Amino acid sequence: MRRILLWMARNPTLRERLPRMRFVRRAVRRFMPGETVADAFRAADALIASGQGVLFTRLGENLTALSEADAVAAHYHAVIDAGRTRARPIEVSVKPTQLGLDIDAEATYRHCDALARHAAEAATWLWLDMESSPYVDPTIELYERLRADHENVGICLQAYLRRTAADLQRLLVIGPAVRLVKGAYDEPASIAYRRKADADASYQTLAVTLALAARDGRARLGLGTHDADLVRRIGTFAEAAGVPRAKLEVHMLYGIRAPELRRLQREGYPSHTLVAYGTAWYPWYMRRLAERPANVLFALRQVIP
Ligand code: FDA
Repeated sequence: MRRILLWMARNPTLRERLPRMRFVRRAVRRFMPGETVADAFRAADALIASGQGVLFTRLGENLTALSEADAVAAHYHAVIDAGRTRARPIEVSVKPTQLGLDIDAEATYRHCDALARHAAEAATWLWLDMESSPYVDPTIELYERLRADHENVGICLQAYLRRTAADLQRLLVIGPAVRLVKGAYDEPASIAYRRKADADASYQTLAVTLALAARDGRARLGLGTHDADLVRRIGTFAEAAGVPRAKLEVHMLYGIRAPELRRLQREGYPSHTLVAYGTAWYPWYMRRLAERPANVLFALRQVIP
């Protein structure tokens, strides 16, 4: 089921047709406050009032024209400006291919550099999402270049990739901010742990390494997962090693396990919600379905009035 859904996420014909179907549009609402940035800000204001941090991502990936990247960057600059008027500034999370990485890596760097500078002026952060495996090297290179000039930049690392332990050691040298996730793409066994237990074990080991670095002021750590039991296991390890809970941020996606995030927040884990919005939600939504096949039943139930 997971593989079929991830294939559907990549299929151009389905990408064109499915989003037009009303039941699909209805089902996606569960994961998005709406398609517009105004919808996202409405959700963000409520989350900020409840004491959470908020990250924004406008959905879209793999652009075909560089002019589209210019428009995406302009959008994020506007978000940073509007976000700084909130009680707590909005952090921004971008996909490098959304800023033209497939077309011109130098242009992507220039956009990210300008966004990071603007984010610093607004006392907030720029995060790089991690996409499928061919993008890992260019994304890490982009991150290292940005981190040389900016302290307020973070990168997402995927625990299911066998290479990530080595990537983390490489990045720890530069004092990274890391959002650690399990990984959302369909990667072969030669490069990724395909069994959930193996990916979870890798996640825990990487998280503990990052927690120790965070304790010593050498990293910022965001546990990007809805797996609250895993977060608590990492919390127990970290506590024994003298890591203050305030150093273990938990980042979840809007609409997924929100009550669990609030519970973790009450237990002392700084909590953040990543709010996604925009019209280009199809591949992103299919990856959310693939993470939990029960979501497919939820989507199908939308067909019944
Ligand atoms: P896991 O799949 O083990 O699930 C733990 C619990 O959460 C289960 O009870 C499960 O049912 C529930 N759950 C998980 N996903 C759900 C869903 N979609 N709907 C309903 N319930 C769900 N990936 C990537 O490759 N690059 C990236 O940049 C990012 N960015 C990112 C940011 C943030 C803030 C988060 C939380 C996640 C990502 N991801 C990501 C996605 C990530 O790689 C992973 O696919 C999902 O988080 C699902 O894995 P979990 O760690 O949540 O655990």
